Amino acid sequence: MPDPHLHETEIAVVGAGGAGLYAALTAARAGARVTLVSATPLAFTASYWAQGGIAAALAADDSPDLHRQDTEVAGRGLVRRSAANVLVREAPGVVDDLQRLGVRFDADRHGRLSLGLEGGHSVRRVVHAGGSATGRRVVRQLSAVVAEDPRITVFEGTRVSALWTDGGRVVGLACEDGRAVRARATILATGGAAALWSRTTNPPGSLGIGLMLAHAAGAALADLEFAQFHPTAVTGIPGREGFLVTEAIRGEGARLLDRDGERFVEELSPRDEVSRAVWATMRAQGTDHVDLDMRMVDAGKFPNVVGALRESGLDPATTLVPVAPAAHYVMGGIVADLDGATTVPGLYAVGESACTGLHGANRLASNSLTECFVLGGRAAQAALGEPAPRAATALPAPPREATIVLPERATQEALWTHAGIERTAEGLRTLLDDPHPLARFVARCALLREESRGAHRRTDFPELDPALDGHHAVVRGEDEPR
Ligand code: SIN
Repeated sequence: MPDPHLHETEIAVVGAGGAGLYAALTAARAGARVTLVSATPLAFTASYWAQGGIAAALAADDSPDLHRQDTEVAGRGLVRRSAANVLVREAPGVVDDLQRLGVRFDADRHGRLSLGLEGGHSVRRVVHAGGSATGRRVVRQLSAVVAEDPRITVFEGTRVSALWTDGGRVVGLACEDGRAVRARATILATGGAAALWSRTTNPPGSLGIGLMLAHAAGAALADLEFAQFHPTAVTGIPGREGFLVTEAIRGEGARLLDRDGERFVEELSPRDEVSRAVWATMRAQGTDHVDLDMRMVDAGKFPNVVGALRESGLDPATTLVPVAPAAHYVMGGIVADLDGATTVPGLYAVGESACTGLHGANRLASNSLTECFVLGGRAAQAALGEPAPRAATALPAPPREATIVLPERATQEALWTHAGIERTAEGLRTLLDDPHPLARFVARCALLREESRGAHRRTDFPELDPALDGHHAVVRGEDEPR
């Protein structure tokens, strides 16, 4: 008799942000039965919060090669060229496909897509929707298409407790509610881990859940020392701590000012540089913020940012906005190839949960949503080629030890203090005994990298060491990373 707790599908997707939704739709459009498991209600993920947009070389003065060069410059010698090439060549195609799926991007009166400018981009290339509501618009539309697709079953509000393995292969997943899903391939699209840091722009669920699931199933993780800090997260406004003010606003001319009202950085430099300059200025002047002057920016272009600030009693059309860096994006993650395949057969990882080497040591702004769609689509295609699991495989027993460990507030504070914008060996060592496994892994990777590069700044090793070009710290099991 079939087990009522067992759900049979072809492709299981975990996570309903941009990458998960697009992977699910790609597999379903190829005719596969898909089960999408989402801890949050559909349309309430980190992608939903994304303000920037989708970077794609679409302008007449742009090219995929120029996009790749900007990606590599921002990534500080650590970008995997093959990954960057895939991204920049396939980005224009996914923008077209998203439009076919009903996403309406901002366009001029002739119907040409409006392109925004962000830090590290040498030309305008960021496609956006609703000004800075891109993530929300895209995720809402894709969620609606998913909900209508009879080939996709959605387990909403359902947490995955463990991946189901059989003979070293992932054959599905177990849910906290006792259900299990058997699939020929499982795609993790669970987002990042920046909410492990106490000051973050991310939703509270960005805790590296997929990384912990994958690690417990034997998959390798890499590059965890590279956590990106966004320079302009609101501070000091009650109820808005960590609220992101998109750098697209700096692309429209907003200025960063120190305590004396002076500019101190080229606002459209790559994100690692701007965040460090903000941090250094705050330190030197003994302040807890710098000011973002966006009084000259057309408020109508950024209705969600301006609206949120006004709701909190600050009108950015007349008043400076207090901002400071916050953890925003983790470049490291589950080791994945250019089709999202991890080191464990049957398991794929895409979007922020994956580490393909695309972002190197510092992600170029708005390459993350692009990655969600390019790699999400590729992983779905590749997953369709996996063999069907043996039907005789027994239902997974509940894991003996919890696969997912939620952080205490003390871990989040410790990561911010010791693995924040500036690190030292002494501070990082204090994290080695932290109860949270990802905090320990971040510290171990960061200790191994005795240099400063991109988002990883060691004050005890302030220079970039060219000998470490191409070096990646890889975590397997509880062994030391190499
Ligand atoms: C932003 O809008 O400033 C953030 C976009 C990104 O993280 O790429």
